[in-house]
Amino acid sequence: MAELDIVTVPNDILRKRTQKVVDFDKKFKQLVDDMVETMRAAPGVGLAAPQVGLSKKLIVVEYAEEKDEEEEEEAPKKLYVVANPEIIKKSAEMEVGIEACLSVPNLIGDVERHIQIVVKGQNKNGQPIRIKAKGWLARVFQHEIDHLNGVLYTDLAEHVWQPETEEELAQAA
Ligand code: CO
Repeated sequence: MAELDIVTVPNDILRKRTQKVVDFDKKFKQLVDDMVETMRAAPGVGLAAPQVGLSKKLIVVEYAEEKDEEEEEEAPKKLYVVANPEIIKKSAEMEVGIEACLSVPNLIGDVERHIQIVVKGQNKNGQPIRIKAKGWLARVFQHEIDHLNGVLYTDLAEHVWQPETEEELAQAA
């Protein structure tokens, strides 16, 4: 495994439409592992292939369900690897929330997103998968899938600003 360099604005690759993943070969699986490692090291909750300089339809997301207030321990994290992701359903209802992006350092912004979505795509072996996501997880998926179409959250945000504290930045990321 190897940690990859994260590409930041204004690199053109962040603005390109990506290519479909067709080979789920050893090289592809290596890329998946490297992206997971890079996301964890950053740390981030999601990463799209253009962010490591590859114009491919691939995202990784790792997220722990919001814990109930009564639960002492943090919920286990769940890793999603999705090739060729497509949003096939989205709620009419939307909400505004704060986002940040590893490719747009030191900024956060408020973005309106669908509260619930259904994503279809393929796992790292090329098998079809379908994911129902709501709330924060739905937000992360929408953000990462936008990367595959050359869209950054700063294009959609009502406001973008520099967080005043590290905490504010960490919360958004
Ligand atoms: Co991003």
